[in-house]
Amino acid sequence: CGIVGYIGNRDSKSILIDGLKKLEYRGYDSAGIAVYTNRGLEVKKAKGRLAVLEEELDTNPIEGTIGIGHTRWATHGKPSNENSHPHLDPSQKFSVVHNGIIENYVTLKEELIAKGHEFTSETDTEVIAHLISDLYEGDIVRAVQKAVDRMRGAYALAVLCEDEPDKLIAVRLASPLIIGIGEGESYIGSDIPAILEHTRDVYILNDGEMAILTKDEVTLQDVNGNQIQKDVFHVDWDIVTAEKAGFDHFMLKEIYDQPTAYRDTMGSRISGENDQVVLNEIKMTDEEIKSIDRVHIVACGTAYHAGLVGKNVIEKLARIPVETDVASEYRYRSPIITKNTLVIVVSQSGETADTLAALREAKRQGARVIAITNVVGSSVSREADDVITTWAGPEIAVASTKAYTSQLIAFYLFGLYLAQKLDTVEADEVKKVIAALQELPQQVESILEQAEQIKTVAEKISLHNNLFFIGRGLDFSVVLEGSLKLKEISYIHSEAYAAGELKHGTLALIEEGIPVIALATQEDVFEKTVSNIEEVVARGAYVLGVNQEGNEELAKVVNESFTIPRTLDVLSPALSVIPLQLLSYFASLARGNDVDKPRNLAKSVTVE
Ligand code: G6P
Repeated sequence: CGIVGYIGNRDSKSILIDGLKKLEYRGYDSAGIAVYTNRGLEVKKAKGRLAVLEEELDTNPIEGTIGIGHTRWATHGKPSNENSHPHLDPSQKFSVVHNGIIENYVTLKEELIAKGHEFTSETDTEVIAHLISDLYEGDIVRAVQKAVDRMRGAYALAVLCEDEPDKLIAVRLASPLIIGIGEGESYIGSDIPAILEHTRDVYILNDGEMAILTKDEVTLQDVNGNQIQKDVFHVDWDIVTAEKAGFDHFMLKEIYDQPTAYRDTMGSRISGENDQVVLNEIKMTDEEIKSIDRVHIVACGTAYHAGLVGKNVIEKLARIPVETDVASEYRYRSPIITKNTLVIVVSQSGETADTLAALREAKRQGARVIAITNVVGSSVSREADDVITTWAGPEIAVASTKAYTSQLIAFYLFGLYLAQKLDTVEADEVKKVIAALQELPQQVESILEQAEQIKTVAEKISLHNNLFFIGRGLDFSVVLEGSLKLKEISYIHSEAYAAGELKHGTLALIEEGIPVIALATQEDVFEKTVSNIEEVVARGAYVLGVNQEGNEELAKVVNESFTIPRTLDVLSPALSVIPLQLLSYFASLARGNDVDKPRNLAKSVTVE
């Protein structure tokens, strides 16, 4: 989602709309603005593209010099007028726009309902507006502080209060927020592009920081009210660079978005005590869950590769047999579907024609369908019985990165959920997996810090036209994705092979200098994988080996070695794919390709 805010002497409406236009790439399910006019606080919002809101404002303008605006990428609640931001409290005096997720919004909402509050939307944001109004005692800064104290999650907020129309409040907790400093005016933006047209001097808020904006001044505090000092950051990016948050390409930005995407996707789905996965979005009864005797995972492209990991995860944790199919094959191979079959369709966009057709076929034959998708309100999410949304945020680059890894997180959560319901894993073991899951975001960050090492290898690889990826077990699923990524954007031909299968044919293609990327993160097959690596080394291959840290053996055998932080074997795909994403990115870059828009490919394929 995108946030803008303005306080100054000019008409805020056009500044807010222009800012939102610059943020449309972050979400476009709906948009809205709240402006303080001479009639009080007025809100206009509309489902759909920003143009719909603009038309509405042309017909019914609202005028004022202070306002906030939002463009939405739906998370809690489908795209609709009611669920659009800004949200108001019942007195209509407090208006809020928000990015991110309030994890405990259900509890807060119940408390407020008990106090007589009535809600008009399904969003967690409306809860914030109500909470602030409930806590207001004549000082908006204090009320926001108290509200923030009650809220758990990752979010950025902008708040406008009718009784104090000389200020705007902005707060950040783990969702980006910046404050623009102008001459007699101040701005809020979730991203730099939103305000770059007006000012290049900004404060970048850190987690737990709050800004109080007036026309002439910006005061910064922590959420406890202690004043803080901060250097002004001068932005020298052009608008195109700014949209990518300073990264050279959307793909690289999205690779770096992954720690946040993991955190958001886990979000409120892990209970406060960290010992349970809670998936309120699954409406199946315990009886229905117990009756599942097989699972079919159906998807295309990268989402299919996430499904291969999903198969392993569900079989391991829930002990139900799982088949994973490419959607374009599934429909036409007369799959055996009964009412006890659970079909999981996986789709970033939720609009892929093949996946949608497979979903319809599965439903026609009486299966229960769960969708794992990144787009709330997409066709797949509307037609499935249950939806597990991945909260990766909009993915722009054609080559999928953060959507794939968020799909993995969704599978881990769902696998654990089934295991709890079916009692297939001891409670202590569940706890262990949950604890390891929660370490992943920070572990991804530490891999990203070593990007330069991958870049060096990628530059060497970019000079070749053929290469191989090998791995066993879950590593095999991950190298399939690594190989696809490389092909998509670097146009280097590669094959991903189960390491043990190489000797049954493909080894004939290994010759002096050919690059082989070998994953060996799975402890139970580690030695076997190393033997397979030795087979290619003996034939002159140039090998990049990837394994978990703490095991020195692989490095002795390969030419280049890269270690990922230690995790449970079952979770390693969520880490081991990161160096492979970086590898394809840097190889594509070295070849001078259009990284974000590879030839012949489209982000969303809506034809069969
Ligand atoms: C297209 C994209 C792929 C993507 C696939 C499935 O082919 O180029 O990157 O993996 O569609 O997309 P979906 O939106 O269903 O995940």
